[in-house]
Amino acid sequence: MASTWLDFWQKENEFDDSMSTNYAYFLARVEEYIPLSKKTKVLDIGSGPGNLEDAWHHRIAEIHGLDISKRYNEIARAKHANHTNVYFHDLPADDYLNFQPVKSQQFDVIIVMSVVQYYRNADEIKSLIQSIKELAAPGAKALICDIMVGGSVLKDIASIIGRSLRQGQLLSMLRLLVRLRFSSYYEVRKENGFLVLPKQEWLEIARQVGVDARFINEPLTLQQERQNLLIQF
Ligand SMILES: C[S@@+](CC[C@H](N)C(=O)[O-])C[C@H]1O[C@@H](n2cnc3c(N)ncnc32)[C@H](O)[C@@H]1O
Repeated sequence: MASTWLDFWQKENEFDDSMSTNYAYFLARVEEYIPLSKKTKVLDIGSGPGNLEDAWHHRIAEIHGLDISKRYNEIARAKHANHTNVYFHDLPADDYLNFQPVKSQQFDVIIVMSVVQYYRNADEIKSLIQSIKELAAPGAKALICDIMVGGSVLKDIASIIGRSLRQGQLLSMLRLLVRLRFSSYYEVRKENGFLVLPKQEWLEIARQVGVDARFINEPLTLQQERQNLLIQF
């Protein structure tokens, strides 16, 4: 059985066939903040099965996914085998803040979607924002999405149920929530929890790193309680 988040993401899990529901909601809203063009070079940190690459590969110049899960990277590489502008890089599970595979590159757009809750502490968030700063091209935008900033788990669940209902996705979301309750996800969450940092702490970290960051007012993911931080360079 998986005992850490790093182990959890290496194995088949309940999110394999459900992540795309949340992603469709995000995709319908993100371009209000992140303009795309055929010249845009994108970095997707924690790319999972490649949802962003599926949606954007034909609209941008190049897209690079980074993930600790070799399994997701293999799934994503297989889907994009014929797309010469799509790359997936393995991050070492014990050194996941070392973005060596893309170190010499610069990106116009950097997305980190539903990943930072699996980081261990605020120092890791600082290191992430520092790396984003180093990898950002002049004028770039970075979006760290689905951030847990506090509030109760029950409120989080209530908000996702409410939004799923409005999106006509209630049944599939309820099915996922029930599966999660009886899966290793529940055990791993009980053991490791999620990283939760209040908005003020995020803004203070951004200030220390020296980047221009603000929280977006509207939700970008189905979990309305979660927040989305936009960094502009
Ligand atoms: C909920 S999934 C989100 C995947 C994708 N961003 C999406 O929204 O479809 C979380 C992803 O983050 C990856 N992940 C978890 N911890 C990570 C870390 N410390 N560094 C990089 N990726 C991580 C997992 O392997 C998984 O692919």
